[in-house]
Amino acid sequence: MTDEIKTDKTVSFGFEEVSPEEKVSRVKGVFQSVAGRYDLMNDLMSAGVHRLWKHDTIAKLNPQAGEHLLDVAGGTGDLAKAFIDRADRAGRRRRRDSQAQATVCDINEAMLNAGRARRDMAAYEGRLDWVCGDAQALPFEDKTFDALSIAFGIRNVADRAAALSEFRRVLKPGGRLAVLEFSHMTAPAFQKLYDAYSFSVIPRLGEVIASDRESYQYLVESIRRFPKQEAFRKELDTAGFAAVSVTNFSGGIAALHFGWAA
Ligand SMILES: C[S@@+](CC[C@H](N)C(=O)[O-])C[C@H]1O[C@@H](n2cnc3c(N)ncnc32)[C@H](O)[C@@H]1O
Repeated sequence: MTDEIKTDKTVSFGFEEVSPEEKVSRVKGVFQSVAGRYDLMNDLMSAGVHRLWKHDTIAKLNPQAGEHLLDVAGGTGDLAKAFIDRADRAGRRRRRDSQAQATVCDINEAMLNAGRARRDMAAYEGRLDWVCGDAQALPFEDKTFDALSIAFGIRNVADRAAALSEFRRVLKPGGRLAVLEFSHMTAPAFQKLYDAYSFSVIPRLGEVIASDRESYQYLVESIRRFPKQEAFRKELDTAGFAAVSVTNFSGGIAALHFGWAA
């Protein structure tokens, strides 16, 4: 069980309490609805800054030639693509020609389809595969992957402890885990401004650009319900990850938790 689970039967869905099954189904509905506009909305909401956070996340994972990444809740594949690019650069520097590969796993076929349809994904054919699956019960063998990433996904999972245990199971011993997620501001002076932006501008953008105000209202509420940096770091400790570190981005708007599978 995780912090977020109040009783045996409820978890948070934004500011509502619902059963774990209802959360899974409503989260699916959110991403089914926004899939076609997902990438554009990310750029608009964050003024492109999500790209910098993702860049730093991949840099921390330090991809190498021949490695295999699993990008859980990988959506349209940003991290998977960046992992392969960076591994190729490392391979060229070290004169190694074994190719890195990546698997994007997401519970929502609509998000995977939006990723497959991206023009910039054509170059990765044969090195990037797209698998529909649940973070809480990953459809992969034990000790398969060198690295595992999850960006803006863990907040949507009903049972985080189950997902973290799956992450450990599918990572090879010594494998690296990177969890990028919206978090909590470390600069209280900006909290009011951030709240105003979150609760007024983001749902309105969702309404105008993605014709879906509610999904973006869920986004901002779910961020507030996600555990603070230190509490989530402890969840990774409890799940058995070693040397877990936290890096705040943009004053804590997002945070990267990084750890090693034993
Ligand atoms: C905010 S998007 C993030 C997509 C991508 N990682 C990125 O950073 O752009 C969250 C993704 O999590 C997926 N998701 C939600 N619950 C999931 C679960 N239990 N297992 C796997 N994927 C899940 C959604 O379908 C959605 O694609």
